[in-house]
Amino acid sequence: MSRTLIELLHEGLPAEAVLTDPDVTAAYSHDMASFCDAGVPAAVVLPRTVEQVQHVMRTATELRVPVVPQGARTGLSGAANASEGCVVLSLVKMDRILEISPVDRIAVVEPGVVNATLSRAVNEHGLYYPPDPSSWETCTIGGNIGTASGGLCCVKYGVTAEYVLGLDVVLADGRLMSTGRRTAKGVAGYDLTRLFVGSEGSLGIVVRAVLALKPKPPQQLVLAAEFSSSGAACDAVCKIMEGGHVPSLLELMDRTTVKAVNDLAHMGLPETTEALLLAAFDTPDPAADLAAVGALCEAAGATQVVPAEDAAESELLLQARRLSLTALEAVKGTTMIDDVCVPRTGLADMLEGVERIGEKYGLTIGVCAHAGDGNTHPTVCFDAADPDEARRARESFDEIMALGLELGGTITGEHGVGVLKKEWLAREIGPVGVEMQQAVKAAFDPHSLLNPGKLF
Ligand code: LAC
Ligand code: ZN
Repeated sequence: MSRTLIELLHEGLPAEAVLTDPDVTAAYSHDMASFCDAGVPAAVVLPRTVEQVQHVMRTATELRVPVVPQGARTGLSGAANASEGCVVLSLVKMDRILEISPVDRIAVVEPGVVNATLSRAVNEHGLYYPPDPSSWETCTIGGNIGTASGGLCCVKYGVTAEYVLGLDVVLADGRLMSTGRRTAKGVAGYDLTRLFVGSEGSLGIVVRAVLALKPKPPQQLVLAAEFSSSGAACDAVCKIMEGGHVPSLLELMDRTTVKAVNDLAHMGLPETTEALLLAAFDTPDPAADLAAVGALCEAAGATQVVPAEDAAESELLLQARRLSLTALEAVKGTTMIDDVCVPRTGLADMLEGVERIGEKYGLTIGVCAHAGDGNTHPTVCFDAADPDEARRARESFDEIMALGLELGGTITGEHGVGVLKKEWLAREIGPVGVEMQQAVKAAFDPHSLLNPGKLF
């Protein structure tokens, strides 16, 4: 059957767009998540046109072969992992920016465009595409849509879902469907665009996206505030939000994370503090806003408040924050990264609970967080070669999600469910929720060919 599959794929794709060498295809078998099974793909295809994607899906439906869509594989939940005998459909070669319109404030892009490439391109037109995952230099817009990615700017600008206005999608049987709009408003029918954002490649293949853009804001200025406890830092976050401030970034790094970043990149961050809060404003007078927020941090018990002198120093602080997960990975070689988002009012309890869980399991758990969103990344550091430590890592990872749900939160703020959190999705949305989601899936993908085994 495998031969027939490859032959059929070749009928609608150039030779170089079909990879079957196992040494080559192995590289496409998984994303960046730990503890997620991955199968061996029968082939990896790299289409460049919508018609080629349609051909792949028609072939897959005809032969009932599963298809796993992929971007840059920077995902953190195993959603892009290959299933056994599947066709990996990599969209990275469909990487054209088709249009940027300053009047309509939209960009029209193919799914393989890298986030940073789009950001820089729209910047040239005085525009801004906000969603900025830490992997923004490599991750693709298609992948961002698949997992509804967030990033550092979300506290002010929201997540990817807020920026996707319309999509062209190749359905499981190869038909092409357009959803949504390129207008400022539009309420025609069910919001299928929103349904596709975060669907993790389980409903169709996004081949084109209309994205909303903002006017480019002034350069943001960052402030670093040091605290002698995570609780005090969380208190500051609550005071800032309660005070009606609109920071363009409000991030927290705990002591473990700060140390890991210093060890990796010698950033000179203050290691004696328990928690470092980074706040930024991209307002017309960021210094004044930072002064007000700095005062709130001091009221909450900050031991030191240091505004960045200029844009370069601000960027350095952001670089340190973006390095957090890479740095934590270096601590013990492997990490499991939680993505629990809680109401801001529950943030202090969340961080305290994570500390307790780390002690209970005898593990280092570093936390960086999009604190302004209540979105925490407790990151369990462990040695994968030590089976007992690996077991404890998995258990603590799960216990952190349980705590998040207890506090009225969600198991994933921005990384998605994938393979890693399948059981937890069911726990969060309940049996009726799962049944309705599966009904939606069946309507789009009756033979369950699109990224099977993910989400449910
Ligand atoms: C971050 C990614 C892991 O916040 O979401 O760095
Ligand atoms: Zn994050």
